[in-house]
Amino acid sequence: MFQSIEHNGSLEESYQSVTKQLASLLEGESNQIANLANAAALLNQFLDNVNWVGFYLYQPQDQELVLGPFQGLPACIRIPMGKGVCGTSASERKTTRVGDVTQFPGHIACDAASCSEIVIPIIKNDQLIGVLDIDSPHYHRFTPEEESYLESFVQTLQTYI
Ligand code: SME
Repeated sequence: MFQSIEHNGSLEESYQSVTKQLASLLEGESNQIANLANAAALLNQFLDNVNWVGFYLYQPQDQELVLGPFQGLPACIRIPMGKGVCGTSASERKTTRVGDVTQFPGHIACDAASCSEIVIPIIKNDQLIGVLDIDSPHYHRFTPEEESYLESFVQTLQTYI
């Protein structure tokens, strides 16, 4: 049974501990959907002040992203490469951190509560797998410090998918 851990230390220690928890959850399982589903659930219970956590997966044949495992309200299913925060991050293969989504040209609103967002590409063996997308109902929820911890989380995740 999953045991939720109380994180009382620094942000860095909390991320180290949740990243270890991710590795032990995914160890021994290679099904991509199952592992992404558990990663979304783990992050959703770990993060404060978020309203959507999930994945969009790259479909090379259609040059678009398609909705993957997530926690939150039902969301838009297909995002063309280069569109919205997710499509921009995927096509640039770079983390995109948006403090105020109303100021991001082409932002795709799925949940009206979302005010800020961070999208981190998942790249394995130089291939784009998809993106991790996290939305918050607070403006400027994601700091540069947290961006680097989330990137490390994704580094660990990509070894299991
Ligand atoms: N806001 C995203 C779309 C996905 S939802 O936030 C879940 C975007 O602009 O790409």
